[in-house]
Amino acid sequence: MSTPEDELIDLTRQLLDAIAGGDWSTYDEICDPTLSCFEPEARGHLVQGMPFHQFYFDLGGNNPGQTTIASPHVRFLGTEVAVVSYVRLVQQVNSADQPETYSFEETRIWHRQEGRWQHVHFHRSANT
Ligand code: GLY
Repeated sequence: MSTPEDELIDLTRQLLDAIAGGDWSTYDEICDPTLSCFEPEARGHLVQGMPFHQFYFDLGGNNPGQTTIASPHVRFLGTEVAVVSYVRLVQQVNSADQPETYSFEETRIWHRQEGRWQHVHFHRSANT
């Protein structure tokens, strides 16, 4: 039996799979157009909107590897807002053909809009 927490973790998994797979249409569908974020690529700036993210999808040719959501924690703020925090582990094969693991602390905020969860904000650490 799936819990509300499971639903939010599944959605987060869909989002990370879309990023890993370069699937812009899924990413765009799950995210609110006003998505805000702090992430290393933004160099300390709060970025708003989707074009900043689309840039990376348009580059294509990514090296997806395998993504693990480690130690997820879901906190509901009422029924319409959820905070999902976890460590994102990405295993990839590097340019020297060696496996390498990258680790990012992520917090993602979801907002239920007209019955549908939308991703509205995230904060990702540098590789730790
Ligand atoms: N850089 C896109 C994301 O982590 O959602």
